[in-house]
Amino acid sequence: MKAEGARILLPGASGVIGAALARRLHAEGARLALAGRDPAALARVSAATGGAPTRRFDAYDLESCAATVPWAAERLDGLDAVVVCVGVAGFGPAQEVGDDIAEHLFTVNALAPMAFLRAALPVVPPEGALAAVTGVVVDAAPAGMADYTASKAALAGWLTALRRERRRSGPAVLDVRLPHTETGFADRAVTGRAPVLPPGRTVEEAVDLLMEALLAPAPGPRRASA
Ligand SMILES: NC(=O)c1ccc[n+]([C@@H]2O[C@H](COP(=O)([O-])OP(=O)(O)OC[C@H]3O[C@@H](n4cnc5c(N)ncnc54)[C@H](OP(=O)(O)O)[C@@H]3O)[C@@H](O)[C@H]2O)c1
Repeated sequence: MKAEGARILLPGASGVIGAALARRLHAEGARLALAGRDPAALARVSAATGGAPTRRFDAYDLESCAATVPWAAERLDGLDAVVVCVGVAGFGPAQEVGDDIAEHLFTVNALAPMAFLRAALPVVPPEGALAAVTGVVVDAAPAGMADYTASKAALAGWLTALRRERRRSGPAVLDVRLPHTETGFADRAVTGRAPVLPPGRTVEEAVDLLMEALLAPAPGPRRASA
């Protein structure tokens, strides 16, 4: 897929990585529809991307996630890709994480991204792309992150099966397993505190990885090289 002229919906454009991806895609000539929860952040990203249209959703309202897709297709006159950058962290030993927190993590990290991408299946053409950010936790499953890991692994498993369903017909189905990135994401965790982590990748490095995955889709999950 070429960025120039591509019509792309970005749920999570209000977040650090989503906003940076929006700016990069805009700079490369893509036409964007921006979705998020925080209206002030969405307005800032829209102003930085030529006044891209914006729409609010909450991950707990899966219908609002799904309804964002036809809205974007209508505003952009079609849709070539959806890149979901929605997510929330949660930390703590499994024994201490309540079921309410587990439900929150699974809703934001798995069910909401699935709702966006499911709704996009009849809309995005075979040469397009459906992408979501998971994370290296899917492979590493670190102690103290059982519920966060499980929620991202749920999304990764769904994407793998969807990729198999669509391997002949398209669109490309992309699972971008980002490494720890300096966005302050861990400080916004719904519960617990992050373990001390070595310095993460820069936001621009994370955007590089997303751009590579989007513009040159390859089979299987996309991981950063060490
Ligand atoms: N930073 C890292 O180290 C890292 C590593 C691996 C993977 N990732 C993944 O990368 C993605 C982006 O993370 P980031 O670092 O850019 O963090 P971020 O700035 O906190 O962005 C998170 C995004 O998710 C949205 N979100 C969270 N809860 C929501 C809810 N209940 N309803 C609607 N939207 C909700 C936020 O919306 P609002 O801001 O509008 O509230 C924001 O757009 C996430 O999927 C994350 O899991 C991050």
